[in-house]
Order: sequence, then C-alpha cells, then structure tokens
Amino acid sequence: MAKYADITGWGKCLPPAVLTNDDFASVIDTSDEWIRSRSGISERRVSHVPNSDLAAVAAHRAMAAANASPDEIDLLIVASTSGDNMVPSTAAYVQAKTGALNAAVFDLNAGCSGFIYGLETATAMIRAAGYLKVLVIGSERLTWLINFSDRGSGVLFGDGAGAVVLEPSDEECGLLSAHLGCDGRYAHILEVPNSGTGGDRFRDNYNIFDINFDGREIFKRAVKGMASEVKKVLRETGLKRDDIDLVIPHQANLRIIESLAHFLKVPMERVAVNIQQYGNTSAATIPVAMCEMLEQGRIAPGDRIMLAAFGAGLTRGAGLLRWGQRVTPLSESDAELPPCDQTALEILGDAIEHTLP
Ligand code: UT7
Repeated sequence: MAKYADITGWGKCLPPAVLTNDDFASVIDTSDEWIRSRSGISERRVSHVPNSDLAAVAAHRAMAAANASPDEIDLLIVASTSGDNMVPSTAAYVQAKTGALNAAVFDLNAGCSGFIYGLETATAMIRAAGYLKVLVIGSERLTWLINFSDRGSGVLFGDGAGAVVLEPSDEECGLLSAHLGCDGRYAHILEVPNSGTGGDRFRDNYNIFDINFDGREIFKRAVKGMASEVKKVLRETGLKRDDIDLVIPHQANLRIIESLAHFLKVPMERVAVNIQQYGNTSAATIPVAMCEMLEQGRIAPGDRIMLAAFGAGLTRGAGLLRWGQRVTPLSESDAELPPCDQTALEILGDAIEHTLP
C-alpha cells in the first residue's frame, strides 16, 4: 500500500454573476465601507445553477489537470453544506455530471472545515484501502440561503467550487499530518434551522431556510480553534513556523486570517487571501485558493503548506501539506457552466422578495 497521497490535479469553478457590496447597499441597510472594514469582502459570486453543476465543472478541470479520465476515479467525495437536495447525496449528482461511474461516492458535511476533513479521509482511503484516483471537491451555493433581513450574515457568503485529484505516491508528499475536531455543544451558533427532520415540516414558510449565526462568538472560537489544531500539526511534524512556505486558511473574515498569521508569525505575503473577491464559500474556500496559488506560481514542488479552517459544527481542522512535483496542469478541460443572462441581484430576486419585510 502506498504511504502517501499526492495532489496530482486541481480545478475550480466560480459562477460568473458578481454581487458587489454596493449591490447589497442598494437593497439593505449596509455599506461598502462596513463590509470591507469588518470582513475584508468586496464582492462575491452568485450561482445561477445548482451546487452539483459548480462541483462537476471544478471536478472536470481537476481531472484534466491530472490527466485522469472520469472512469478511472474510484472515490468521489463532495464536502458541502449546501447540497442540491437532502436526498440523495450531491456526490451522486456530481458522479452523473462527471461520468465518474466507477466511483464510490458520498457527501461530507463538516461545514467550512469540510475540505480538510475530505483530504484527510481521501488520504486515509488511499493509504489503507488502496484507492487509486480520488476526487475531493469542496462546493457550495450559499447565496441560496441568504436572508436579506439579516445583514450580519447575509453579506458574508458566496458560491463556488474547488476540486483536487489525489493519487498514491511513494514520495513524501500530500497531507503529512492533520488534526480535526468539533465542539457540537456550539452547533446552534451557526446553523440553518428547519432545513431537515429536526424542524417542523408544516410551519408557515417552512421551506424558507436561512443561515442563523452568532458572528462574534464564532469569531472568537475560530481563532482559538484553528490555532490549537495548527499547534498540534506543528508538534507532530516537528516543523517550526519558519518552515511553512504558505498558509492557505479558510476565508471567513480577513481579520480572522490576520489573527492566524499573527499567531503563526507568518508574514501576510505567505498567506493566501482571496476573500475580497469571493467572500466565504465555506468548504470551497481552501481548494479555490489552492488553485489560485498554483495559477499565480506561488506553489513550488516540495513546498510545505499549512491549511486551517473552522466552521459549522463547530468544526475545526488543520493540515500540513507537502506539495508534490506537479505545479502545472497536464491538460485542460473545456467544461463550462451554462451561460448566465441575469445579474446577481436578478438571480436573488425571489430571496430579496421573500426575506425582506
Ligand atoms: O466560516 C464560518 C462562518 N463565518 C463566520 O461566522 C464569520 C465570523 N464572524 C465575523 O466575521 C464577524 O463577527 C462579522 C463580520 C459577522 C461581524 O463583525 P463584528 O465586528 O463582529 O460586528 P458585530 O456583529 O459586533 O456588529 C457591529 C455593529 C452592530 O451594530 P451596533 O449594535 O454596534 O449598533 C451591527 O448591527 O455592526 C452592525 N452590522 C452592520 N452594519 C452595517 C452588522 N452587520 C452589518 C452590515 N452593515 N452588514
């Protein structure tokens, strides 16, 4: 059995419609200045298609980068909190849309930490169970859940997907150490109530779901939770903070990212930040940022990359990734989303109508 699981392909998919802070300010009581200064976000993407479409395009691009054909994929994991339906798994739809018909497929809901949980799972499946080509996808359509009467949470989230292909390797690479955790006692501070069997199916408007959260409380716990998992990873690997070439953190708030960088004593030049453009895309933030770092030539063979995330659950996780040899895609996919002829505000028209008083 292989000792390591290398990332051999990567791809992302961001829907084209852009929702700016000024767009928000045109419908609710907020401002570009408030959103930028409190969260770091300038704009986010709004999807005109279901989550599984975003995931499938990202997956096609990752498979092309690895030169892997869909029928070679033997495991497909979708990390997400905003699946197409409660039943079946979003992974099942993605399987059909990618043609990865020989794969075992399942969803993994670990909130915004989902991609790190997915990498750890895939790595273990390759090392222990002999899987050969595994797709791990982080994909979200969180704007579907926006409640325009809650300006605190509504402005933070966006849509997007990122995917990677993992394959066995004997070189020391891939996820070398990961620590995952959760504190379910605080599950209620970030939830989408009435969206499942814990809710009252027949209450008024039962099908209008939205994100309920206590931003300040999550903020405090996020910084502590990520720092404690990162410490465990550093201890286990024996690495010093200076040995870290790049940090790819979950993108929830620029101030949280800066606090993590401060804790790690890593200058911001060595931290991946794209929250300005995409907001918080939950399980997709890390794989999307990873793709951008590769596109920008900011990842070199052998680099040591620290991943860190926290999210609904309240989950948390950190992982040390040693990049393998491949930093450029082997080929490119022509997979695209269907064209979008609406503005972001038009796509969200029903949400605005139904969630604003
Ligand atoms: O990935 C996991 C999920 N991510 C998170 O949960 C993010 C964690 N939390 C955060 O990022 C921050 O807590 C927020 C960005 C959500 C909020 O920032 P904050 O500095 O903690 O603001 P706050 O909630 O303490 O609110 C400060 C003020 C309040 O007004 P008063 O009570 O001081 O008069 C809010 O009503 O800002 C007001 N406010 C807004 N004003 C303009 C809240 N949202 C907005 C808004 N526009 N969109």
